[in-house]
Amino acid sequence: MNIWDNLPKPFFVLAPMEAVTDHVFRRVVNHAAPADLYFSEFTNATGWVHAGEKAVAGRLTIHKDEDYPLIAQIWCAEPEDIASLARHCKELGYMGIDLNMGCPVKTAVKNSGGSAMIRQPDLAAEMIAAAKTAGLPVSVKTRLGYSTVGEWRGWLGHLLKQDIAALTIHLRTKKEMSKVPAHWELAPEIVALRDELAPETLVIGNGDIRDRQHGLQLIDETGMNGMMIGRGIFTNVFDFEDTPQEHSQRELLGLLSMHLSLFEAAKTTRPYQTLKRFFKIYVRDWSGAHELRNQLMETSSLDEARALIDAHMP
Ligand SMILES: Cc1cc2nc3c(=O)[nH]c(=O)nc-3n(C[C@H](O)[C@H](O)[C@H](O)COP(=O)(O)O)c2cc1C
Repeated sequence: MNIWDNLPKPFFVLAPMEAVTDHVFRRVVNHAAPADLYFSEFTNATGWVHAGEKAVAGRLTIHKDEDYPLIAQIWCAEPEDIASLARHCKELGYMGIDLNMGCPVKTAVKNSGGSAMIRQPDLAAEMIAAAKTAGLPVSVKTRLGYSTVGEWRGWLGHLLKQDIAALTIHLRTKKEMSKVPAHWELAPEIVALRDELAPETLVIGNGDIRDRQHGLQLIDETGMNGMMIGRGIFTNVFDFEDTPQEHSQRELLGLLSMHLSLFEAAKTTRPYQTLKRFFKIYVRDWSGAHELRNQLMETSSLDEARALIDAHMP
């Protein structure tokens, strides 16, 4: 079964986000309002080859109750390492491999990975071929170009010629980081290029999508097959719901409780402090939410946080 063939049309994806989309948060999102497809946080294959699990700190952990479509996102600049980690991901139970060729952060770029691939198209093709040897469908997530938007046709055309299952395009260049609005005006031309070069490859749009309704509108306007939402989930954990609804303080605090319980059960090496970035996702939009969030930010243990949640549960 090819995971990409079994998705709804159109489909919605929760974007891979480092230190956010681990199995704990994926399960909370799936409980609140499910996406059609999830990605792991990006994981460096060369680090894994040299230091094993220690290097990846649980990023690739799949929990046994994750029965939704899940893809491993991996990166590096060594085809052999990608092939090894892709094989391991298959053993872990992942249904696909996504290669990150868009990450702009220095650690990735200085190791010739992430968005540095845009400047090494031959190596990018080798990486894709190496990932395929594991026997899972291979997709790529990238940006329009490295320095200028005009690079998009050459770069995306090159990727489309590599016979990949799907191509996710964050509609900005590496240089633009996230500082300018995504270039949605190019999406219809990208779809036309896909139709010409690789009609079987699915194209997924990414960048500044607020929620499913906004994504559906962009699908109508662009003809893309799917939409990927990242930061939108920070302001609405119910981002993927079909019909937007009001959600109560009780419901939101319930999801925060769930997040804490799953985090505790995971016995992760990630410290308690890493939970703090999630508080603003659940504690918002009711009178007194701001004060509770501030109090939660002062906590230093799960018990302290739970006591506050209990005291504010309507
Ligand atoms: C905190 C954070 C972590 C991210 N980590 C990854 C990652 O591991 N892999 C990846 O391909 N993109 C990563 N991204 C980029 C997102 O997947 C997405 O492409 C970007 O945020 C634009 O989409 P958005 O406007 O919907 O957020 C990350 C973004 C954020 C905000």
